[in-house]
Amino acid sequence: MSNQDKLNNLIALRSKAKIGGGEKRIEAQHAKGKYTARERVELLLDEGSFEEYDMFKEHRCTNFGMEKQTFLGDGVVVGSGSIDGRLVFVSAQDFTVIGGSLSETMSQKICKIMDMAMKAGAPVIGINDSGGARIQEGIQSLAGYSEIFQRNIMSSGVIPQISAIMGPCAGGAVYSPALTDFIFMTEQNSYMFLTGPKVVKTVTGETISTDDLGGAYMHNTKSGVAQFMAPDEKECLAMIRKLISYIPQNNLEEPVRTAFTDPIDRNCDLLNDIIPESAKKAYDMQEVIACVVDDGDFLEVHKGFAKNIIVGFAKIGGMPVGVVANQPMYLGGVLDIEASRKGARFVRFCDAFNIPLVTLVDVPGFLPGSTQEYGGVISHGAKLLFAYGEATVPKVTVTLRKSYGGAHIVMSSKQLRGDVNYAWPTAEIAVMGAEGAVEVLYAKEIAAQETDEAKAAKYDEKKQEYNDLFANPYQAAKYGFIDDVIEPRNTRFRVFRALQRLQTKRVTNPLRKHCNIPL
Ligand code: HXC
Repeated sequence: MSNQDKLNNLIALRSKAKIGGGEKRIEAQHAKGKYTARERVELLLDEGSFEEYDMFKEHRCTNFGMEKQTFLGDGVVVGSGSIDGRLVFVSAQDFTVIGGSLSETMSQKICKIMDMAMKAGAPVIGINDSGGARIQEGIQSLAGYSEIFQRNIMSSGVIPQISAIMGPCAGGAVYSPALTDFIFMTEQNSYMFLTGPKVVKTVTGETISTDDLGGAYMHNTKSGVAQFMAPDEKECLAMIRKLISYIPQNNLEEPVRTAFTDPIDRNCDLLNDIIPESAKKAYDMQEVIACVVDDGDFLEVHKGFAKNIIVGFAKIGGMPVGVVANQPMYLGGVLDIEASRKGARFVRFCDAFNIPLVTLVDVPGFLPGSTQEYGGVISHGAKLLFAYGEATVPKVTVTLRKSYGGAHIVMSSKQLRGDVNYAWPTAEIAVMGAEGAVEVLYAKEIAAQETDEAKAAKYDEKKQEYNDLFANPYQAAKYGFIDDVIEPRNTRFRVFRALQRLQTKRVTNPLRKHCNIPL
């Protein structure tokens, strides 16, 4: 073979590898409204940046005549590339090759780029579209999954790990995405479950559709397994690119600061009037966030789940921050099991990757009731408490209105090593709200009144007394638990300046094997 023939051979092999399972299966993939693995990688990465590895690797299974069904590269495309010029590693399962089912070879390919990502200290992104373990390979395929899981675990908190589900992801296969930091799903064609509808029907008798059991909407609103839902694959990949812009390459790096045009001393008059006169009225915390962050640009995480707490990424003066905020529009912004889980996971991600936390507080307390207690709200609430308390990143807190009881402590209070704690003049920082307090303290005195009118008058009098004393930020400020009471419209500037001054913050936790967060 001449050198030219060898070159032609390479070109021919590359072309063959690039069509994966063949044109017909590519057509079938497109007909479902799905892109192929390579198309997804191209859309995800900066143009021309993809460097593919293991394009010629094939499976070695000979069970069930599998030696006749080989494909160059087998069922996954792996390699490195860049997003806005920053290095990332990618794997994309190729459904056109034996349904993207995971072979030992595929696992080796995925593990290779996971190892490279760890060595380089760069994020790893896995695109899932697979029928699960390759049945013909049996235990080797299972071992392949285990190798991936072990790497997911070792990479956790060292490099960011992102999963996108763009097809089936079933059985034990779900555990790799579940071990990563963020799961993206697409509205169509994306589902995750341990056992599919058929098995569910056989074992429990329940009839349920694929979407209801494990679709994007379910996981983004009910289970909280997924953090992002995109209308389509293109948008999904664009959202991953956006997420990458807020997070550093690894746990030893700071997030990338970028130039900004939104004036840092931009006052936001809306904030001076946003708190309603009536304590029972809600306002939209999203408006507060939009006022405070650069250009109102906020990448919300877990948008559809536990809406009583808002978490997400934004920039303030070009600095990436993690925002955590109670949302008075849903359940009055109360903390419950789901909100605690959602908040805790986000706070821990930010802390692991050196992203400062900005916490906006308006919380009436923890949701009371047997449903919450039976569900273990004590342990779940403790997760958020633990997450804030162990976090060593800069923590800036602004209390807008209510901040009562245990929830006050949990939401990045001074005693949980909050670095700078501001309050608006409308803040109410107390053990509990006036109504509850009056009922506990003055129940007998009120009952002793002879008429209903007299009872109501006594109740109002005591409530007023309590509010005069506690429904303000100055009790807390008196003790130094609040560092300053600020004018709401200056919040953006004050938070920015606090963050600036905390850039060199150095706090470490005691050495230990690992903590024992109440999981
Ligand atoms: C081998 C598989 C496969 C698998 C799909 N294929 N899944 N081959 N092992 N796990 C093959 C199909 O035989 C078919 O080949 C091709 O991929 C495309 O699949 P279709 O069924 O035609 O596609 P579709 O109709 O879109 O259905 C997709 C699907 C279905 C829902 C994923 O294929 C399916 O139910 N697959 C099995 C899912 C499963 O039970 N997997 C094992 C889970 S247990 P041909 O040549 O006929 O076109 C598991 C354990 C992991 O994963 C444990 C880790 C710890």
